Amino acid sequence: MSRLDSFIRRMQAQRDCLNDAARRLADIPGPVLDLGLGNGRTFDHLREIMPDREIFVFDRVVNSNPKSTPDRDHIFLGEAEEQLAIAGARFGRTVALIHSDLGTGTEDDARLAAMVVPLIVPMLRPGGILVANNRFPADAWDELPLPEGVPAARYFMYRAN
Ligand SMILES: C[S@@+](CC[C@H](N)C(=O)[O-])C[C@H]1O[C@@H](n2cnc3c(N)ncnc32)[C@H](O)[C@@H]1O
Repeated sequence: MSRLDSFIRRMQAQRDCLNDAARRLADIPGPVLDLGLGNGRTFDHLREIMPDREIFVFDRVVNSNPKSTPDRDHIFLGEAEEQLAIAGARFGRTVALIHSDLGTGTEDDARLAAMVVPLIVPMLRPGGILVANNRFPADAWDELPLPEGVPAARYFMYRAN
């Protein structure tokens, strides 16, 4: 499969998983955290499908399209490790949805999971959902079935138990 095809399928999986998570969270309050602002496309989608939620983004640098850049009060700017610790102290266990688009699809991703998972476990409220481009296993989470049409291991969904 070409890298273009692979990218398109990953983006379709991301969108389908986020749409599924938004539906599942209809009765669960709390903010949304988007790890990896990048161009801001995912942030833009999140605010479209969850217009009543407060959405906070994380990145080490702001390089997003100005049309999909949150205001400064909703950006955690810096290394994820440091900024997630700050967010944890601020939000406690109140977060409804975390989306992680960090990582590169390489062997570094295991190291990334080891860094990110302990920082986000204490933030997801019971019933809260993690949608991730990486495998992020944790005892506190149950893996959710992927929406129809999303191939196994293309994206990952977990629910806090
Ligand atoms: C694949 S891009 C995210 C794309 C985004 N979902 C979008 O819609 O454009 C990954 C982003 O994560 C950021 N990133 C990766 N590792 C990071 C880390 N350890 N701390 C903070 N930001 C990180 C990169 O700067 C990059 O902007």
